[in-house]
Amino acid sequence: MEGKVQQAVRLEKESQGLVQEQQLQFPILEPDELQDLTKIQSGGFGDIYRGWSPRLGKDVAVKIIRGAGEFSKQLMREARMMQRAQHPYILQLLGLYKKVEGEYKQFGLIVEYMAIGSLYSLFQKVTPKSLPWPLRFQILNQVAIGMRYLHHELQPPLLHLDLKPKNVLLNESLNIQLTDFGLSKIRDASSSSGTFTGGTLAYMPPEALKDIHNKPQEPFDVYSYGILIWSVLAAQEPYTGACAERIKILIPKGQRPDENVLDGLGDIKMLPEARSLMVACWSEVPSARPSFQVCVWKTREIFSVYKSDIDDAVRTVRDRLKNSSAEESKIKASFTTVQDEIEVSLPDSGSCKPKSEHMAPKDLKEGSTFLLKHRMAIVQRLMTIESILECLLQEGIINNGDHQFIISDANCAEKIRRTLDMILRKGKKSSTRLYQLLAEKEPLLVQSLQSQTD
Ligand SMILES: Nc1ncnc2c1ncn2[C@@H]1O[C@H](COP(=O)(O)OP(=O)(O)O)[C@@H](O)[C@H]1O
Ligand SMILES: [Mg+2]
Repeated sequence: MEGKVQQAVRLEKESQGLVQEQQLQFPILEPDELQDLTKIQSGGFGDIYRGWSPRLGKDVAVKIIRGAGEFSKQLMREARMMQRAQHPYILQLLGLYKKVEGEYKQFGLIVEYMAIGSLYSLFQKVTPKSLPWPLRFQILNQVAIGMRYLHHELQPPLLHLDLKPKNVLLNESLNIQLTDFGLSKIRDASSSSGTFTGGTLAYMPPEALKDIHNKPQEPFDVYSYGILIWSVLAAQEPYTGACAERIKILIPKGQRPDENVLDGLGDIKMLPEARSLMVACWSEVPSARPSFQVCVWKTREIFSVYKSDIDDAVRTVRDRLKNSSAEESKIKASFTTVQDEIEVSLPDSGSCKPKSEHMAPKDLKEGSTFLLKHRMAIVQRLMTIESILECLLQEGIINNGDHQFIISDANCAEKIRRTLDMILRKGKKSSTRLYQLLAEKEPLLVQSLQSQTD
């Protein structure tokens, strides 16, 4: 019976008259079995919610697809992939979500909620300098172990095809959980006809960018892992500020993430070894890339030098995360207590004159919350839009010293974060103005970030 543990899922596609039998053995939870569902992310083809499941006795994350049809097929594919991959470093599927309202049906995947979030969000929450090396190398080793399982231990192998920091979650102990099998493929000679259409540009190998007919193989994931190594060493995303078109053209021409950033890291034990693995993984020629078996050996050797310090490193990061969430609440609180009006009274500054007709008052009021939530992404983009900085400078929101500070090192995430925090602390008027300028000059950025907020 529907809704009982250990049942097969029947997905009815009434619109196309299709019926799909799914051989999935999972509990199916209905909306009344999930409490306090709150949206935490907007994803590619659905939204991620957090909630409490009394039946599973855990905080869960639910990936609910928008609409039905093709999307529910894709979701069930993802569920099947996750069901195949049972490993300590792979996020486990706990159940399925099903909501039926008359003709309307909605489906979702239920997994354990990871309070720390993804590796990507870790880069945003802690400064690069305070991300301890033992933890970085442990993460790289664990990702390689998880990927080795998919490529070399599962039969037939499973290609992830979307390996990147946003798809590496971290549990309470800061151990990794690979997730997002939405694009994964079973690497099976008899069914390898499909070409690859999705993925995240910065992590896609040159062969996939230059050949639309490219059939992904294991080296696809190894390339993504090479870029992920750079991200972990630099504690940031690659190519920030570069547009998609340039990435598509320049990666097949041999460009890779900026190694100068790594040159500035100083004398870190085993860094040269990690860099040489990174460079091998992102080789132009797929066959020149190492297997994940080799990646495990190399990262194990690198991590072994740091192993005795891992417990301290984990404790330090967990403490920092606690402090940074306290700091965030403090900034939030300062905005709810400030009574100054939203009205923006700014000096007449020629081309920088506020165009308030572009902004609804409601949007302006949400400015500080929006900036707070997306501060990292926004300030990274500010680096590429000098005109906004010029306006802020002319209007006295930032001074010459601040301006110099901002442009002095475009790759330093700590400076980036401090810059936006500085504007946030200056008060509501400054953040409102920054938000207004962003909405005028970077409407697409604001829209895309807003869609994550809504
Ligand atoms: N179990 C979870 N716990 C906490 N956050 C999660 C969880 N699953 C996903 N997320 C958040 O949602 C984002 C998108 O999830 P993902 O499964 O990658 O979906 P998509 O296919 O939309 O990329 C992740 O990058 C992460 O920030
Ligand atoms: Mg994802």
